[in-house]
Amino acid sequence: MQSTIPVLEDIDAARVTRQEASGHQRVYLETYGCQMNVSDSEIVASVLQKAGYGLTRDPEQADVVLLNTCAIRENAEQRVRRRLGHFRARKRKRDRHLKIGVLGCMAERLRYKLLEQERLVDVVAGPDAYRDLPRLLDESAETGQSAVNIQLSREETYADIAPVRYGSNGVSAFVSIMRGCDNMCAFCVVPFTRGRERSREADTIVDECQALFEDGYREVTLLGQNVNSYRHGTCSFPDLLNRISLTVPAMRVRYSTSHPKDCSRELLEVHRECPNVCNYIHLPVQHGNSEVLERMRRGYTAEHYRALIARAREICPGVSFSTDIIAGFCGETEAEHQDTLDLMREIRYDYAFTFMYSERPDTYAARKMRDDVPEAVKKHRLTEIIELQNSISLENNQQEIGRIHTVLVEGNSRRSDRQLCGRTDTNKMVIFDRHHYVPGQYVRVRVTGCTSATLLGVPVQAI
Ligand code: SAH
Ligand code: SF4
Ligand code: F3S
Repeated sequence: MQSTIPVLEDIDAARVTRQEASGHQRVYLETYGCQMNVSDSEIVASVLQKAGYGLTRDPEQADVVLLNTCAIRENAEQRVRRRLGHFRARKRKRDRHLKIGVLGCMAERLRYKLLEQERLVDVVAGPDAYRDLPRLLDESAETGQSAVNIQLSREETYADIAPVRYGSNGVSAFVSIMRGCDNMCAFCVVPFTRGRERSREADTIVDECQALFEDGYREVTLLGQNVNSYRHGTCSFPDLLNRISLTVPAMRVRYSTSHPKDCSRELLEVHRECPNVCNYIHLPVQHGNSEVLERMRRGYTAEHYRALIARAREICPGVSFSTDIIAGFCGETEAEHQDTLDLMREIRYDYAFTFMYSERPDTYAARKMRDDVPEAVKKHRLTEIIELQNSISLENNQQEIGRIHTVLVEGNSRRSDRQLCGRTDTNKMVIFDRHHYVPGQYVRVRVTGCTSATLLGVPVQAI
């Protein structure tokens, strides 16, 4: 399923559609990690374009290659290192003027170490240093040395920078509403790479949503590591959703990601009251056992989480849930793992992002606990989790057959340009024949078939 929630470790090979190269120096930007990084790359593109750079989707045409990186798991970093190796070889062998920059979470985590480990990197910039990129590129060009800015900020939200939405489908856009995370889950590197939590001024968010609507967009996904702890002045997250919903009533509003401990009754009521706030919540549980959750320092128990889901289903009938789950966290026993499977059977998520625990340096778990579940056991448990989720997703989708959904058309289906794809309010991807429908349109579609990942349908009428 293609989804708006963290597309972790996916390369978004800078699909520059409308912003072809125009300036002197051409920049190729490649994005790894979560949607925050995709959104940040749009900020980077904007900053660089203003400074006179052009953008290119072809790395071979680029004078500057920037990798916006992710540090969430070891294998995410390894992918970046392999890619860096490729560009380094090019620079060494045939393109010594090529500038290579590492941005984002890996830059922040490794700081100067990155320069020792990865020779030939010219620029290292952390997530709060993107305004400084033109200066860093100039500096490294002038001095022939690497230029580094890994300063984290307590204020930076890039609120005044209009993102260049170079990879967008023109229908659905990301709007970043907060940065950083104060939660300090035991396994997670994000608080170290993204710094303290800070929220963006509400007016600038509402204005951006309005402007997107005027540009033809019909869906926004509000982004942050923990969006439901958003607060700017007196404006809370439910207040913000309400304001956006009223200002652009024909715009679908989603958000990602939310933390169970901050999912209030008030927020659930906004889902119920605002028709354009989607009936879908990505609510990462991470584990089904309360003791593991405590070791993870998540701030809730499995019972609390179950009660939250029950309350949400009561307030918002038909609400769809997806989640994140980690297999093989420190000290996880077979019985604890079974608790995760039991919780999944009970809650019946529509989708789950599932991961093997990967120890990250400096985190609480790395400092205080032992990564003692053998790799093969982690793998086996992860496979069980994935297989269970696939069967639940399939059964959930089968129950959709015969129902009619309002689908927002996003574009051609991946397999055929005679078919379109779009998502339901509940975030399920639907494929149907094109007829005369176009992206950005809302279409009523009757579901006629499914796989575990996708619904198939026939249009009933446009709206
Ligand atoms: N802020 C979001 C999560 C961002 S990271 C939230 O709290 O919901 C996305 C997911 O990656 C996490 O939910 C978690 O499931 C996974 N993850 C984070 N650190 C990890 C690690 N060290 N090993 C494996 N998975 C991890
Ligand atoms: Fe990481 Fe936890 Fe913050 Fe999510 S809430 S980014 S998992 S520390
Ligand atoms: Fe990765 Fe950083 Fe996002 S570590 S998941 S790119 S916040």
